[in-house]
Parts: sequence; structure tokens; C-alpha cells
Amino acid sequence: MPYNYTSGGTAELKLGDATYQLPILVGTEGEKAVDIRKLRAQTGYITLDSGFANTGSCASSITFLDGEHGILSYRGYAIEDLAEHCSFVEVAYLLAHGSLPTRQELTCFSHMLGKYALIHEDMIRFFDGFPANSPPMAILSSMVNSLCSFYPEMLDNPLENIDKMAARLISKVRTIAAFSYKKSMGQPLVYPRHDLSYCANFLNMMFDSPVQPYVINDTVVAALNKLLILHGDHEQNCSTATVRVAGSARVNLYASISAGINALWGPLHGGANQAVMEMLQLIHNEGGNYKKYIERAKDPNDPFRLVGFGHRVYKTHDPRSRIIKKACDDVLAALNIADPLLDIAKELEEVALKDSYFVERHLYPNVDFYSGIIYRAIGIPTNMFTVMFALGRLPGWIAHWKEMWDDPDWRISRPRQVYVGPRRRPFVPLDQRAG
Ligand code: CMC
Repeated sequence: MPYNYTSGGTAELKLGDATYQLPILVGTEGEKAVDIRKLRAQTGYITLDSGFANTGSCASSITFLDGEHGILSYRGYAIEDLAEHCSFVEVAYLLAHGSLPTRQELTCFSHMLGKYALIHEDMIRFFDGFPANSPPMAILSSMVNSLCSFYPEMLDNPLENIDKMAARLISKVRTIAAFSYKKSMGQPLVYPRHDLSYCANFLNMMFDSPVQPYVINDTVVAALNKLLILHGDHEQNCSTATVRVAGSARVNLYASISAGINALWGPLHGGANQAVMEMLQLIHNEGGNYKKYIERAKDPNDPFRLVGFGHRVYKTHDPRSRIIKKACDDVLAALNIADPLLDIAKELEEVALKDSYFVERHLYPNVDFYSGIIYRAIGIPTNMFTVMFALGRLPGWIAHWKEMWDDPDWRISRPRQVYVGPRRRPFVPLDQRAG
């Protein structure tokens, strides 16, 4: 066994008269898996698991998540400690390299982020080709995909060059995100500065202007830093799984990340942070009648869902949402902002957590429920919220792509299916078809 599994014995599977022994593998935090990798070859059967809710697609040493107890750690470090004590750059290094950086390693990594912050000037012309009001996620995924045309020299030996590729991506995606905002506003681009920290540099590129210089506010920088850390990784979520699936075909890192950005865009995934703000704004515009939306969410005939609530894995509070809720209060107080949407969010949460519909289904606020209120307080426009999620998730995607590329158990991702279409039938020539 190439991985650090321990053996948990075997499980017995009876199919007709035959009995099969399936190995049980146990991970380092005690989670157990029935190893079915030889199942089809031995039995002719496959498993059916829509949404992959019970399927482990790989072994990973990046993030541990215990949804029953609300525990999340990156590389063994509690998310609470990382959010409290680290910079996003330290956490990005941790995710990509597996250990927290020494002071010297951090200086070196930060230097690389500074060095790679510019994007090729020819890429800047791409922004002009997008119509006004283009969704920033569409721009981001296209721009990231095109990076492989501008920086192809590392594609042949990706693992040898992964540190450079990671630094390049983490730095350039920040620049692309800020430039796409500036273009959408019709404002001149603000270039990255070597003397600013990762988050301060991003905020400066977003908000500095020739007529109104941006004043860097430590509270805003700290809030952004915390949000990016909390979004850093979340094991096999939809976008990360997408990065791995795309990469499993041995497509390059940029193309794989671009695929992940597109998956993240969906309102059931990263797009939920924007959808939450739109929902809260709607409730506010309608006079704050949040109870109507609780009732709609519970109605089986209404497709409406309480966005920012529920999670595939967490069956208790999402530890990230607890940290964000507290940060929300701190940031708004420090910036002297009273946001009526925060009051509505808190009221919705309070009512939902006592309502049997939500209690029975274990639906709690997730990472997206309060994050938008902080983004709004620090001036990020709503249509950029999911881009911010992408910025935070990027080190996680890179770490998973790297792990997948180097995985001794790697195979191209290729699920099976149960076919339920028509049985094989005779072909009918065009002039003999009825109707
Ligand atoms: N509002 C109302 N009912 C809900 C909600 C919700 N937000 N979420 C789940 N349910 C109900 C669902 O209707 C189902 O009820 P029933 O058993 O009566 O059919 C039950 O809870 C189980 O839901 P599910 O759809 O089987 O759960 P899932 O694990 O497939 O989906 C989810 C997880 C996150 C997509 C879902 O909870 C949801 O749509 N939430 C709202 C969107 C959201 O906030 N997404 C962000 C997720 S966290 C960050 C991220 O991944 O980016």
C-alpha cells in the first residue's frame, strides 16, 4: 500500500452464491473506506452513487474535514489557528508545500509572488474583447486558461517547476481579478506593487485611482487575509474534484484550474456567496420579511433554497462560518458600518436553527452565509464575490493538482454508469421514418 492507510480488516459482499472479501482501509484520522477498486473486475458489478456522496476518489494528505463534529484542518493545522495567526501567503505555502514556511522560505515565496505579479501586456488586450457587464468569472477562467499560451515553458516537467508555476498562478490570478474589475468600471489599470503585502496589493490594484489614491486600511487587509485563508481548501469539493478530474487526463495546470474556476461559479458552490447577498438584499427591499423566505425554503413545491445554508459534508456548524460571523461583527465595528443585511442574516439564522425542517436535515449556515457582508464592508462589489472565493481556493486547487499528478494510484478519471436508454434496435433510413 503506497499510502499511509492502516488495514481495517475486510468487508464481506454477497452477490448471489458468491462471497467477496473487500479490504477496509483506514485513514490517519480514523475514517474508513471499503476498497472497491477490483470490484468490477472480480464481480462484473459497479456501484451507483449519484453526486459521489459515498465515494472516495483518492487518498489525500492536504485537508481533513469531519462534518459530524465541524472540524477542519489544513495539513494537520486547525483552521481556527491558521485564521488567527497566519497570513494568506503562509497558508498558500502550507497547502502547496505541506509544511508551514520558515521565515526565510516565506520571504523567498513572497519575493516570487512579487516577481510574477505582472501579466503579459498582450493579455491586457483580451479584456477589451469582453462585452461590458461580462461575468467576472467568465473573464477569469478564460484568462487563466490562456496563461498556458504565454507561459508554456514549464508545461513539460510540471512537477519540477511546480513552485514557480504555483507562485506565478497565485500572483497573476490576483492581478487578473483586479484588472477585470478595473476594466468593468472603465477605469485605468493599477499595476501591482512590489512593496505591498499580497492582500494590500490586491486592494490597491482594485481601488487606487489617479484621482483618488487608495489608503490602505489594516482592518480591511486583515479581514481579506482571513477570508482568503478560510477559503484555501476544502478537500474534494466540486471545483477541486473538477481540477483533479480534468488534470487526470494529463491536461496542464492552467487548463485544470480554469476548469475548477468554472465549476466554482455555480450558485450551489462558490456562486452561493453572491446569491446570498442578492437574497438578503431582496428581503431587505421587501421590508425585511425574512420569514416568508424561510417558508419558501421549506416548501417542497418551491425550488427556492435558503442560500448559504446546508452542506454536503457538514451536519453541524461549518467551522468557517463561525469564524466569519465573528469577523463580520469585528470588521463592521472597526469600520463603523451598520449593515441592515447583517441583521437580516442573523435573524434568518436564528429562526432557521430552531425550525424543525432545518434541524432534522442538519442545515446550518455555511462559509458563504456571512462572507459577502464582509466583502461588501470592505468595498468588493457583489459580482466579484465568487472571484474572491477563487482567489482563496487557488492554493488548494494547485495542491490537489500536484498531489494528483504525483499519485502512485493515479488513473484517468472515468466513472461508469447504469444505462437506462433504449435497447439495441434496427436502424431506420431517413425516408422510412414515421412523421
Ligand atoms: N434550503 C432549504 N432546503 C435545503 C437546503 C437549503 N439551503 N439545503 C438542503 N436542503 C434540503 C433539501 O431540499 C433536502 O430536503 P429533502 O430531504 O426533504 O429532499 C435535504 O435538505 C438534503 O439536501 P440535499 O440537496 O440532498 O443536500 P446536498 O448535499 O446534495 O446539497 C448543498 C448540498 C450545499 C448543494 C445544498 O445544501 C444547497 O443547495 N445549499 C444552498 C446553496 C449553498 O449555500 N451552497 C454553498 C455550499 S458551501 C460552500 C461551497 O461549496 O462553495
